[in-house]
Amino acid sequence: MSNPKPEMEGDVYFPSHEVISQTRIKDWDKTSKEALKDPAKFWENEANELEWFKKWDKVLDDSDKPFFKWFVGAKTNITHNAVDRHLKTYRKNKLALIWESEDGKQDRTFSYYSLNREVSRMANIIKAMGIRKGERVTIYMGRVPEIVFAMLACAKIGAIHSVVFGGFSVDALQGRIADSESKLVITCDGSYQNGKLVELKRIVDESIKHCPSVENIIVIKRTGHDVPMEAGRDHWYHDLCSLPIANGKCATEVMDAEDPLFILYTSGSTGKPKAILHTHGGYMVGTYSTLKYVFDVNDEDRFWCTADPGWITGHSYIVYGPLINGSTVFLFEGGPSFPYPNRWWQLIEKYGITIFYTAPTAIRGLMRFGDAWPNKHDLSSLRLLGSVGEPINPEAWKWFFHVIGKEKCPIIDTWWQTETGSFMITPTPVVPLKPGSATRPFFGQEVEIVDEDGNQVETDAEGYLLLKNPWPAMLRTIYGDPDRYVKSYWSKFPGKYMTGDSARRDKDGYIWIIGRVDDVIKVSGHRLGTAEIESALITHPAVAESAAIGLPHEIKGQAIYCFVQLKPGFGQSEELAEELRQHVAQHLGPIARPEEINWIDKLPKTRSGKIMRRVLKARAQGLPEGDLTTLED
Ligand code: PRX
Repeated sequence: MSNPKPEMEGDVYFPSHEVISQTRIKDWDKTSKEALKDPAKFWENEANELEWFKKWDKVLDDSDKPFFKWFVGAKTNITHNAVDRHLKTYRKNKLALIWESEDGKQDRTFSYYSLNREVSRMANIIKAMGIRKGERVTIYMGRVPEIVFAMLACAKIGAIHSVVFGGFSVDALQGRIADSESKLVITCDGSYQNGKLVELKRIVDESIKHCPSVENIIVIKRTGHDVPMEAGRDHWYHDLCSLPIANGKCATEVMDAEDPLFILYTSGSTGKPKAILHTHGGYMVGTYSTLKYVFDVNDEDRFWCTADPGWITGHSYIVYGPLINGSTVFLFEGGPSFPYPNRWWQLIEKYGITIFYTAPTAIRGLMRFGDAWPNKHDLSSLRLLGSVGEPINPEAWKWFFHVIGKEKCPIIDTWWQTETGSFMITPTPVVPLKPGSATRPFFGQEVEIVDEDGNQVETDAEGYLLLKNPWPAMLRTIYGDPDRYVKSYWSKFPGKYMTGDSARRDKDGYIWIIGRVDDVIKVSGHRLGTAEIESALITHPAVAESAAIGLPHEIKGQAIYCFVQLKPGFGQSEELAEELRQHVAQHLGPIARPEEINWIDKLPKTRSGKIMRRVLKARAQGLPEGDLTTLED
């Protein structure tokens, strides 16, 4: 008997026969058990589905832990697998990328054949700018097709891309360009955000004032507004495209599997952002395989991941994973509710999106506008829904499931990180679901939940979430700071990867992520460090000292609250509070704008001078402040 809709038992949602019959791997338990017997073998089989210029001598080299190496001795290039290899098949004329502008007045489509032409052209130009294998290129753009071309082009010639989210501002961009010592920046004249112009090129100009490494800037014309161009340094992309050098063939560089592919900055507990380094071989296998099994992508799918390519979700599941799988990717320039809250639903209908992968904050935001907006549209093309970035609350899960997925689309809640490169804890379409749980570790992975001393906690108890087994798409190091790599992830619980999250495991083995255990805040799914916000605040002349914390927020998940101690001579006022909020937004980006500024005469600190954020959090929420014996006074 067939049951087209999933069945429910308590709060467990079982996949329908229809879903099971359409999915590659029907027996999750069997595959998981087999993969766990020999994870390296599982990954080797996956790697064998891709093309290599030379195969590996060894799948996993763990002789220098935690500096793991994968597919040792192998030669490949991720762009070869994401683009070149499809040209020899029927996929040559298949759509690789569909793009629509924020205002809906433009769309652009690229087959794999034309994607190759665009990537090759961009690669020729980057090379002509003097960029060689191993050199860094910063990409700072809006969501336009050229951001995808730029990433693939860097990879094609062996340059290391460092994409900085186009919503970041001067300080964040400057720090990232300086740290990566990029010689080239690729940007746009501007981008649009809810109809408003963001002056990307001007932000670049401001940022590189103190970045002597930058020799050239390539500017893609998107908005057409006036931007200053410095002769010799700044080049319009369309001018470069008309040069003969841009249009020849471009050879794909033969890369070692362990050669760096990109760095991506992410926030840690303290200090400056960490440059997470990923490689050609392992990351390629990891993103390919996880997307194939978790979203079960097929040739017929139209895959839409609403993230920005500037975050890891965009790197892995807008660009690399889907293209390596030969899928059709949809990229949308705008956000969910501009000009109206049906923008996304309209696009799903228009393009026949089959897999829709987004974030809880967006779901909560759209849910607020009611069911009438999605109900205006035919969403029947959808077959799978996905969630990422923060825990999804059951209420949002259920709305997504009933109103958007019409009770026929499993919700794939994927837990992972910039560092993990690919999904780590996630269901596949056949796994029974519990709203709010990312379910179980992906094939080949095992997790441990431990207390402060590294002892496993009991069922349902909260503890540090650790990953036990190395995996191909794992970060290799923090670029330029291997000691910090060891210290951040492998020192507190030697031999195991510390995720920085806390979690609990229920009696069925399901993992429930609770949140960060460090000073990282997740604002609308964006990862920000309290240290970055505090460094921005301190540059304001009125601020003596400050502390930032994250507090629960109905839509954003968490919102930023700041405590500010003023310098003598500055008075507390609502005007000054607003000025400080503005100041942070201007320096770091609108996503970092504090929700509230609270004045404080003296920050609570330990005797060793560490800010006690726990006390501030409790105070802000009117909760008991707990043990204060370590307080300095
Ligand atoms: O706290 C977890 C949360 O996001 C963190 C990683 O952030 P980032 O590196 O920016 O990558 C986000 C996208 C992969 C994690 O440490 N997180 C991510 N996915 C989930 C999640 N928390 C709960 N459930 C998820 N599905």
